[in-house]
This record gives sequence, structure tokens and C-alpha cells, in this order.
Amino acid sequence: ARTGTGRAHAKAILFGEHAVVYGAPAVAVPLCQLEVEAEVRTFHGAETRIESELFAGTLQAMPERLQPVATAARASLAEAGLGSAAVQLRIRSAVPHGRGLGSSAAVAAAVARATADFAGREFDTEQLYGIVQQAERVAHGNPSGIDARAVAARGPIRFQSGSTAELPIGAPLTFVIADSGVSGSTAEAVAGVRELRAAEPARIDRAISRLSDLAEGATLDLGLGDRAALGARMREAHELLGRIGVSTTALDALVDAACAAGAAGAKLTGSGLGGCVLALVDSEEQAERIALTLRAAGAQRTWTTTVPVA
Ligand code: MEV
Repeated sequence: ARTGTGRAHAKAILFGEHAVVYGAPAVAVPLCQLEVEAEVRTFHGAETRIESELFAGTLQAMPERLQPVATAARASLAEAGLGSAAVQLRIRSAVPHGRGLGSSAAVAAAVARATADFAGREFDTEQLYGIVQQAERVAHGNPSGIDARAVAARGPIRFQSGSTAELPIGAPLTFVIADSGVSGSTAEAVAGVRELRAAEPARIDRAISRLSDLAEGATLDLGLGDRAALGARMREAHELLGRIGVSTTALDALVDAACAAGAAGAKLTGSGLGGCVLALVDSEEQAERIALTLRAAGAQRTWTTTVPVA
């Protein structure tokens, strides 16, 4: 039987989540050790079949919460010219769901790559982006596109209003990611900010504008490899994300614990209302200590990642 495989990795937003929905720049880094693998095989049945840890059954029978995956599968088959074919699709994901690490976009990108590979071709960057954005629109109404770009990018990116640029960094950066253990819904978080902005436009626009300045300035700090400056910006960004209503006491406690333990800075990452905290540290040795501190402060699990100089 014919087989196609594809992979994609998780992402962390370093600056600009939420503000990016309103046209601000944002910065994201790849989390290469958290991957989704997809495999597409010939299937001698009437309907496409999906197998994953969350679901096994036909594409038609996928539950509401997995509709983004169904959309990715249908869009990928159509783009590969296999619209009416029945295939078997296996998905294995190491990216936790609903933790702000881009799991829905990473699953869609892996499915798209595996489907293209099955068809003996490769989607170009824009075809891949188009498919992932279709899935992201089903996952949450108004995606900026940063997740779709970040899960397919090899290095750090600057993203604004649909355009993406690779972002050179001046020094390797080590981060500890701490999972609060609570799922946050991106759709709810984005809708919450929209409502708050409708009620208090001046106050929320001020926060968004400052988040935008922090992301813009951070692109320069990244180029210089200035960890202290980046850390200070991260702390301020977390504070502002709290003001626009997407932090929680659990996330605040993790940020405080990381900073008290000597991290250069820390903030929530992704849409918030649960999910993860990202802490910038000086070295892998310090990362180990800070990871222990974060677990003692309530993190369910932690990962350490170093973003290398390209
Ligand atoms: C989600 O990873 C990032 C948000 O800014 C939403 C989006 O950009 O679509 C919260």
C-alpha cells in the first residue's frame, strides 16, 4: 500500500499574542521537540478513516471538537487532487491540546504534508498555509495566521497582518515552558478581548499598542541577543496581557515563581486563560533549576528548549 508521512512542530509566541489579531507585529519561536506525525495510507473502504489518541472512526463521524482536523484532512485531499479518495489517516501528537502551543495548527500542517507526500508531491508554503488557515478558522473564528506560519517555520519569525519574515537572533535562547495543566480556549480568549475592547476601547487599545511596541522592540533585542532586555519586555507583556483579561492567578503565580528564581523574564504564551508560561533563562543548567521551581509552583509539566542561532 502507498504511504505518505508528514510532520510539524509546536510553537510558542514570544511577543504579540492577541495584539496580533488587531494588526500588531508578533514574534514566535518553533518548539522542535514537540512534534505531530501524520501518516496517510491507501484504504480499501468507502470512507476516509482517522486514527489518533483522541478518536478512531470515519471522517464523517468526527465529533464537533475535532472538526478542525476533519477540515484539514478534507482540504488536504482536495488540494492534492484526491478529493474523492478514501484513505487511512493516522495522527500521533506530542503537542498538548489547548495549551497555547499551536497543537491545532501543527496537526493540520502534519496532515497536509502527509497527504501531499501520499500523492507524490509537496505543497508549497502558500498551499500549506491555506490548508492550515482553513482548519484554524474552524478551530477559532478569526485566526491571525501566526500559528499557521509558526508551525511550518524552521526558526523564529516576525509576523504581522498575514506577512511573515524569518527573524535572525544574535545569541541562542533557552526557554522553560511550564504547563499550567488548564486548557484554555483560543476562541473564548479572543472573544473576551474583543468584548472588553468594545466596552473600554481606549484602555484596551492602549494595552494593545504597548504590546505592539514591545514586540517591535523585541525584534531588535533578538538580533542583538540581549537577554536582559527581552526578559524585561516579557514581564511587561505578561502584565499587559493580564490587563486585557487573558491571564489567570495560576499563570501569574508561575510567572512570579520563574522571575523570583532568576529567570530573565516570563510571560504567558498563546491565547491564555490557561495554557502555558514561557520563561527565558540564561543557561540549560539554570533551566533545570527553574523547571523544578515551576513544578513546585504548580506546573503540571515543563519542557526546556533552546532556539539556536541559524
Ligand atoms: C494564538 O496562538 C494567538 C492569538 O493571538 C490568536 C491569533 O493570533 O489568532 C491569541
